[in-house]
Amino acid sequence: MLAPMDADRKDLRRILVLNPKGGSGKSTLATNLSAWYALQGLDPALLDMDPQGSSGRWLGKRPAEVPAVQALRSYDLPSNVTRSFATRPPPGTQRLVVDTPAAVPREDLRDLTREAARIIVPVLPSDIDIHAVTRCIADLLLVAKIPRSAGRIGIVANRVKPNTIIFRSLMRFLATLDIPVVGVLRDTQNYVRAFDQGLGVHELRGGSEEKDITQWAPLLDWVEHGRIPEQSLP
Ligand SMILES: Nc1ncnc2c1ncn2[C@@H]1O[C@H](COP(=O)(O)OP(=O)(O)O)[C@@H](O)[C@H]1O
Ligand SMILES: [Mg+2]
Repeated sequence: MLAPMDADRKDLRRILVLNPKGGSGKSTLATNLSAWYALQGLDPALLDMDPQGSSGRWLGKRPAEVPAVQALRSYDLPSNVTRSFATRPPPGTQRLVVDTPAAVPREDLRDLTREAARIIVPVLPSDIDIHAVTRCIADLLLVAKIPRSAGRIGIVANRVKPNTIIFRSLMRFLATLDIPVVGVLRDTQNYVRAFDQGLGVHELRGGSEEKDITQWAPLLDWVEHGRIPEQSLP
C-alpha cells in the first residue's frame, strides 16, 4: 500500500540495500543499481544513509556526460532513521536506492524497511559473514516482520570465487534460510574501477565487464519483476 506522502508518486519504488556487516558490498550494489536505473531512463535517486559516505563519494565522481543519478544525503540530518528515510527525492524520480550504514539500530529496522519494494542483502563467502547474515535475515523476518512470502528480501552472494569450498558452503547455507539467492557476483576489479570513475559496470568499456553484466541480469530481473532466478553457479 502506498503511504499518503507517496500517493502522488505511484511510480516511485524504493530499493534498500542492507546488511549490518561492513564491507559486504552494500555501496557497490547500491551504486551499480543506481547507474543501471539511470541508463534505463528511470530517473533514480541514491540516498546515502552511511556516515562513511561511500555512495555520496561515488555520486561526486559521476561524470556529467552519463545519465544522472540524483544525490540524496541523510547522514547529516538529525539521526533519526525514519526521518532520513522519508527524505523526499525530486519529483519524477522513479527509483530510490537506499544505501544503509553498517549499524542500523534494530528498533529502526521496521520503519526503515516498511516502504521498500525490495531489500537486497549482500553477503560475502566467509565464515564470519555467513554468521552475520543469519542474524540480519532473522531481524528482517522477526523484528521488521517482513513475511518470507512477500518476496521482498533477496540475498546476493558477492565477491564470489567460483569452485571454492567456502562458496559452496555459503550456497548450501543460504538454501537453509529459505530466502532466495537472487544474484551471484564475482570478485573483480571491475567494481573497483567502476566505483573510482563514478560509473556502474554496465557503463564500463573494455570487454571484461561482459561477464559482470551477464551476472547482473538475474538480479535486475528479480529487483524489477520479482522473478527468482534458477540457482546458477558462476
Ligand atoms: N564483487 C566485488 N569484487 C571486487 N571488489 C568488491 C566487490 N564488491 C565490493 N568490493 C569492494 O569491497 C569493498 C567493500 O565494498 P562496499 O560496497 O564498500 O561494502 P559496504 O558498503 O557493505 O561496506 C570496496 O572496496 C569494494 O570496492
Ligand atoms: Mg558502504
